[in-house]
Amino acid sequence: MTQATAPTPEDDRTRAARARLDRLWSRGRAFLGTELAIMGGAMTWVSERNLVAAISNGGAFGVIASGSMTPDQLQAEILGTRALTSRPFGVNLITLHPRLDDLIDVCAEHRVSHIVLAGGLPSSASIRRAKDRGAKVVGFAPAASIARKLVKNGADAILIEGMEAGGHIGPVATSVLAQEILPVVNDVPVFVAGGIGRGEAILSYLEMGAAGVQLGTRFVCATESVAHPRYKQAFINAAARDAVPSVQIDPRFPVIPVRALNNEGTRRFQVFQREVIDRFNRGEVSQKDAQLEIEHFWAGALRRAVIEGDVENGSLMAGQSVGMVTREQPAAEILGELVDQAIRSLMVRLGGPEKPEWRDSGPGDLGRSDLGRGQSGMMGAAE
Ligand SMILES: Cc1cc2nc3c(=O)[nH]c(=O)nc-3n(C[C@H](O)[C@H](O)[C@H](O)COP(=O)(O)O)c2cc1C
Repeated sequence: MTQATAPTPEDDRTRAARARLDRLWSRGRAFLGTELAIMGGAMTWVSERNLVAAISNGGAFGVIASGSMTPDQLQAEILGTRALTSRPFGVNLITLHPRLDDLIDVCAEHRVSHIVLAGGLPSSASIRRAKDRGAKVVGFAPAASIARKLVKNGADAILIEGMEAGGHIGPVATSVLAQEILPVVNDVPVFVAGGIGRGEAILSYLEMGAAGVQLGTRFVCATESVAHPRYKQAFINAAARDAVPSVQIDPRFPVIPVRALNNEGTRRFQVFQREVIDRFNRGEVSQKDAQLEIEHFWAGALRRAVIEGDVENGSLMAGQSVGMVTREQPAAEILGELVDQAIRSLMVRLGGPEKPEWRDSGPGDLGRSDLGRGQSGMMGAAE
């Protein structure tokens, strides 16, 4: 007969830390309907059915990146994702898409629970259309005033994304946006994105009042991600300082800031801008056409990198947290590491000894699948 062993002080601290984490992100979990209040940020070409389903199956919230998909393509992706997971996931729609209304209707037809409206301030009509058809709407707010406006127009949650993020970025750091917006927006859950690579950072934003977080860069090298092996290897090789915003060389010709890994394409882009601007200065091309040429330089470049593996000339969109991507690993393992890091950090705060070896231990030894049991009755990923 085995003797039941009395719980050690460390067991008690682990339980207390889990319970505290559950309380901290309970609003985000309730909003998303998930075990973990972590959104897998939509990444065009990367966030398709396989990665989205893997993130949702791992207990977090996958989001399909619809990019420039047609309504039929989006429908196929939603159905494909649903075939791989029975858990909640969302769809990210770009507000500038010429068929935005049709895409919203496709989401409604297939009972997509959450729509993230990205790429500019969504109109109140778009928000209403999505809500009238039963979806919860998440909007991006690059400033407190815009967050308030989104809430007034009916957004059910706000995403704040700092300039550390991969892809299209604003000018303000996540840490500053969080300080400006989290204390003043309480009516709806606020999710924080940009530069988050570890659980300790997730915990910090939750303690500042975030309902949850969104990560993109950390999921690119998930085993389930269809990104080309060369794209993944570029991430694994890169350091934070390699993920830089696109460079604009002349204020008359604005360049939309995009954070990506430096490569031959980013170097050629500067030379190309100089050539176009020289032609404009010589009167050989109008300002409008010169601007269009500059804007078209990157057309199709993300697809070239992610799908075709052209890491020299394609766009290697990546956030500064790329330095924390060290290997390919299953999405559920990435999530397990993030949660373990948050829990270990909480255990130290709850009076545990400072154990440096905790900082980089592997995933899973705190039994992430236990997370949430008892506290809220929500199912763990491994169940
Ligand atoms: C390759 C790549 C593509 C992205 N594409 C989109 C997109 O299509 N729509 C969008 O709203 N955000 C996009 N993002 C931003 C992510 O959804 C997410 O908010 C961001 O990656 C979070 O910051 P992080 O990269 O520091 O984790 C993209 C990011 C990356 C790295």
